[in-house]
This record gives sequence, structure tokens and C-alpha cells, in this order.
Amino acid sequence: MKIPSSKIDEILEASDIYEIINDVVPLKKMGNSFKGLCPFHSEKTPSFNVHPDKGFYHCFGCGTGGNVISFVMNYYNLPFPEAARFLADRYGVTIEYEGAEVSQTAKDIAALHEELVLDARKNLYSGIGKEALNYLKGRNFSDTLLEKFMVGYFPQKFDTEKYVRKYDKSVLLGSGLFKEGQYGMRLMFFDRVMIPVRGVTGRTIAFSGRTLTGQMPKYINSPETEIFKKRRVLFNLDLAKEHIRKKGHVLIVEGYFDVMRLYDKGFGNCVATMGTALTSEHVSLLKRFTDDIYMLYDGDEAGYNSALKSLDLFVAADSFPMVIFLPKEDDPDTFLDREGAEGFEALLASRKDLFVFTAETLIENSDDMNARLRNLERMKQMLTKVKSPYRKEHYAEKLAEIFNVGKEMLKKDIDLSAANNSLKIVSRRPVKNGRRPATYIYEREFIATLFKLPEDVALMQTENIMPEFFHDKILADIYKKVLDVLRDGDNISVLLCSPDVGSELSEAVIKMPDTDIYRLAAATREKLISNSVMDSLSKEIKSSDGGAKARELAIKRFEQAGRMMRKRNPED
Ligand code: GTP
Ligand code: MN
Repeated sequence: MKIPSSKIDEILEASDIYEIINDVVPLKKMGNSFKGLCPFHSEKTPSFNVHPDKGFYHCFGCGTGGNVISFVMNYYNLPFPEAARFLADRYGVTIEYEGAEVSQTAKDIAALHEELVLDARKNLYSGIGKEALNYLKGRNFSDTLLEKFMVGYFPQKFDTEKYVRKYDKSVLLGSGLFKEGQYGMRLMFFDRVMIPVRGVTGRTIAFSGRTLTGQMPKYINSPETEIFKKRRVLFNLDLAKEHIRKKGHVLIVEGYFDVMRLYDKGFGNCVATMGTALTSEHVSLLKRFTDDIYMLYDGDEAGYNSALKSLDLFVAADSFPMVIFLPKEDDPDTFLDREGAEGFEALLASRKDLFVFTAETLIENSDDMNARLRNLERMKQMLTKVKSPYRKEHYAEKLAEIFNVGKEMLKKDIDLSAANNSLKIVSRRPVKNGRRPATYIYEREFIATLFKLPEDVALMQTENIMPEFFHDKILADIYKKVLDVLRDGDNISVLLCSPDVGSELSEAVIKMPDTDIYRLAAATREKLISNSVMDSLSKEIKSSDGGAKARELAIKRFEQAGRMMRKRNPED
């Protein structure tokens, strides 16, 4: 859903870019700005600059830059709306969505879920749910806990008539909970304990139904619907939020019953995936609340393997979780039920850094020199993707220890690969003799002024300035994007969040004096127009195959050049 342009302004206004960046990159004051080691490439002397007064950051080493939203996007690996929301949350800006078209169907589907939750609760505590309740009590779950999670029951025979009367067919089918069969509408859960799945705001968006009879499948989940996207949902996150804040970390487990047991025993800071592997969306979602993720895995081969497999995902999301392995034959539910909170605390204390765990497992499985080098290479590749230079250094040392190679050699090796990466970014565009052509300078300045001017003025400035006027292809493309956004009445600062635009423009925007914007805008605009006149005259001369016509054009061009010169030095 789209965040309105005025909200983006408000978020940019409310956010403290110094605070956000200083959280992760220690900054030192230098005049009006701050300096630190760039988190996006590896460096020894700081070339990363933050200008809180202008709201921008820029790295003179690798060329990345932008505003506070783009920093959050790059550093935390979040898409734009998530980054904006992250800041809005932190700085207390409430976002109402533009044309918040939560469709009527979606609203009805949500209402249907709430009604079903209450019905399932009633069933559980009526005669029809006796066996289900016994089953749950047998597993040692109290009424209080069942109420907390609104656990209910749907019987074999469920009268759908009330729902058919009340809800449109599109709603019943759209919820994924009903199917149309030979005998009319029927619910897709028969004789199952019903566990409501709530979204991050606490509304029920799906169900999971557990069999009572050992029937397969053990669990049936709602299918994906308008309001339920498995990849993005973590069971219990709505209740876990405040506990995560209090404890500082989150526990990720596999099962719904694991979550309920943990909650019961004082570990409310836990969530479960919906029977799928953890996704990058899950990690970004959690990053809004904490960086400290504890993954609980089964203590068997499968558990170790899932842990090993997850490192890629976490590193890509710039997340460095701890892993905890349960004893064989246990899951968190059975473990806690038997060992209690104290036993579980002891288990938590055995947590291991996933990166270190992976390195240690790989070295254990390296029988010879070749295997060792291959595995070291794998870990090194991983390491080059780590954003924070401090973290990178820390892991490099660990890695050297674990693989028993020289620390300095390994660090040098990794620095080199990181330097190669950043080199690629910087040399993306060739620069003649290390200097940009003059056209590039004012073309970029012109676009930069558009980011500083009020949007209606900026739009006026773009009148009659065509993308073809730009000699620099990259700038021409950026200008096209700026035009599109301005014409749609949207916020162009959003564009700085894309790495292409940010790295090209942030430096110019930062360096731009605040007092002279209007004059600078007019002057660069003038240059663009004059030069385009020159260009088209040159083109005409070229295609006029000589003669009187060409001479006439050449004179015109000469005069135009004279006018430009006078403009540049008005006192002549
Ligand atoms: P209990 O046996 O009730 O304690 O469940 P559990 O959580 O211990 O089950 P298990 O370890 O077998 O599975 C872990 C998680 O995987 C469950 O909580 C479900 O999310 C998911 N899962 C397991 N079996 C199924 C299944 O048959 N279908 C689906 N969709 N998910 C399943
Ligand atoms: Mn279990």
C-alpha cells in the first residue's frame, strides 16, 4: 500500500539521521557534519559523511549515499515502505495509507475470521468439544493459556447455514476456510483443534487446525488469501512484540504448541513460522523489533542441516542469529514441560553464533586440505557480504582460529575481495582523466536543485527541459524518473533511496548551499537550455552538407555561444 507523499516528508522531518546511523556506525563530529567508517564497504580511514542539517549521508569511498530512509533500506536490507515504516514507528509518525483500499471483501473476510474464532471457542467448551478439551488438558495446557491464544474446536459436523446467510459467497470462498461441495458450503476443518493465526496487529488472519485422531495431515492451514501471506507471517508476533522489547531477543521455533508452551513458562518473546522455512521477509519483520534472533532447532541431523542452510539467508539480511539445539527427541514444548523454565534458561545459555557454528561444523567435516580450503573459501565469501566492518573483523578472527590459518593473511585476503567489490561500484562509469566533463557538473547540479526546491517550484523548473538535453546518459535516465515522480505529484526524495540515484546525486545534494538554491536552479536550467540550442545547431550544420545554409547556421551558433559567454560573465 502506498504511503502518501506528505507522510514521507513527515517521516524525513521527524527522523534523526545522526541517531539512526550512529546506532550502527560510530560517528565523530567534524564541523557541521559527522564522519565514520563506511558500513557499505571496507575501509580503514573514515570517508563516510553524515550531514544531519541536510538530512543526507554520503561515502566518498564507495559512492553510496542518500537520506535517512535509504540508509535504513541499505543497512537493514528493507524495501522502501518497510524502511519508511521502521522510521515512522521509531519516531512516532502514524501512517494512514493513501486510498487505504482495504477492499470490502477483505474487511468481510476479517470479520468472518473473528466470528469463527468465537464459535470455535464456544464449541471447545460445549459437549461437542469435550474430547478436544481433554486432549489439550492432557497436554497440560490451562484454560487461561487456551484463552490467551483463543484456541477452539471445529467438530465433524459443522452447521454453515448461519455463515451462508450472513456472508457473501465471495467472502466465504475468499477466506479459504469454506469450500463449495455437493451439499453446499462446508468448512474445510473437521474435528480439529483450531489455532487462530493473528497478524502483527493482532487480528486473526488465518487458522491452523490440528488433528485429534492422528489423521493426516497433522496440521491443516488456511490457504493464502488476500489477508494471509505465509511468507510474511510469524505466529504470535503480535503478542511477542512487547516481550521481545523487554528481553531484547526473539526465539524462533517451529510449532504453534511450542510457542504456547514457551509463552506459558515466561518466554513470551517467541514466534513460529507457518510450517515453512524462515524467509527474508520474516527476518526484516523481526528486525523492526530486535537484532537478536535465537533460532531453536531440533537436535538431530535435520536440525543441524536446517541451521547450516539458513546462514545464507541471514547474512543476506545482515542478521547474525544465535542457534540453540534441543536434545534429540525433544521439541521446545516437551522440553519445557519436563525441564521447566530453569532447564530452558540453561539450554538458552548454550546458544552459539550461527556463523561460528557453521564454520566449526564445516571444519569438522573437512577431511583433507582441499576440503578445508573449499570450506574456508565458502566462509570467506559469506564474510565479504557482512556489512559492518567491526563485525567483519570479529568474524575474520574467529574464522582464522577455527580454520587454523594466519589472522593477518585472512584479513588481508578478505579486504582485497571487499575492495574489489567496491571498486566495481565506483568504476561503474568511466571518468575521463579523473574529471567529469563540465556538462556533467551542471546537469547533475540542475537535478540536485530539484531535490531541494519545493515540489511545485521544482515542477515548474522542469518545464521545457527534456531528458534529451542531458549529455550524460545516466543523468538523463535519472531526470526521466524525476519527471515521472514530480508529474505524479509524488515525493522525489524517495528516488534518492534507489542506489543508482543515491550514489549519483547525494554528493551534489549535500554540497549544495542552502541559501542559493533558486539562483543555482535558474542558472543551471539556463545552461541546459543554451547548450541544447547549441547542440541542435551543431547537428543541423552537420547534416546541412555545407554551403550558404551551413554558414548561416554557423553564424547563429557563434552568436549563441557569445550570448552564453556574456551570461557567464555578465559584467562584460
Ligand atoms: P504437536 O505434535 O502438536 O506438538 O506439533 P509440533 O509442532 O510438534 O509438530 P511438528 O514438529 O511435527 O511440526 C512442526 C510444525 O510444522 C507444526 O507446528 C506445523 O507448523 C508444521 N507442520 C507439521 N506437520 C504439518 C502438516 O501436516 N501440515 C502442515 N501444513 N504443517 C505441518
Ligand atoms: Mn510438539
